[in-house]
Amino acid sequence: MRALRSAEQYEMTGEEERNVQRFLEELKGAVLPERYPVFETLIKHLCVVQDPYNKEYPHIDNVIHGIEVARLCMMKRPELSEVLLLGAIGHDWDRACGERRIKSADYPNTEEGYRQYKEKHARNSADLFCAELRGGFDDELIAGVYDMILNHEIGGEGEAGVLDFADGMNFFTHSATDYFRHRRMYAGENGNGLSPEQLEEERKKGFATKVIFMTDTMSAEELDFLRAYVQKNRDRLTSVVREELADLLGCDISMSD
Ligand SMILES: [Fe+2]
Ligand SMILES: [Fe+2]
Repeated sequence: MRALRSAEQYEMTGEEERNVQRFLEELKGAVLPERYPVFETLIKHLCVVQDPYNKEYPHIDNVIHGIEVARLCMMKRPELSEVLLLGAIGHDWDRACGERRIKSADYPNTEEGYRQYKEKHARNSADLFCAELRGGFDDELIAGVYDMILNHEIGGEGEAGVLDFADGMNFFTHSATDYFRHRRMYAGENGNGLSPEQLEEERKKGFATKVIFMTDTMSAEELDFLRAYVQKNRDRLTSVVREELADLLGCDISMSD
């Protein structure tokens, strides 16, 4: 069974492929031209080696999550270092590594258990991601990326803070809003017992609750960034998400300009 599984490869959806392509284009503006090929090789490699299984949350347990967070970092800090860029791409890498990932269910359902889980997940991601960098990147850079990933659940000053902020913003990426608004089951595991209309209503409510929860504690500056981010990425949101977000964030998300 295992041998069969390991021979299988993650198959990206067409949408994921376009997303990766778009990211590679954006990367050309973020790294030096002579450095671009090594990043391109890495991204393509990660897309292929990520495990196709154990995707509990498809919008996070995937190389795409790292790409989205890196994109947010690029917008928050246009002059970002390679350490931050790679740290963002790899911060949750263990979640894309199938059976090698750390699972929260294996830790006690307590504050201490959650802290332990997060710590192990951060170290595991740093170990697994830096193993992918060896051979393509120099040791000093890899050491910086290792530390960045190791501390990504804690945050900090400077670029560590940028990564923490970007990771928090991930909920507003199109893959996450699509999942929370259109695909997540809000009643039981399978939305059991709900008619399609009721499920749609639950999803609308669940999405609004989550957006309000996520934006409640944001500073005015963070809210401005969020509105600008949503506006910039509006073509990737579904029309329903676009309308509801415009309402909830109190902004006009127009497709015409
Ligand atoms: Fe994480
Ligand atoms: Fe993350």
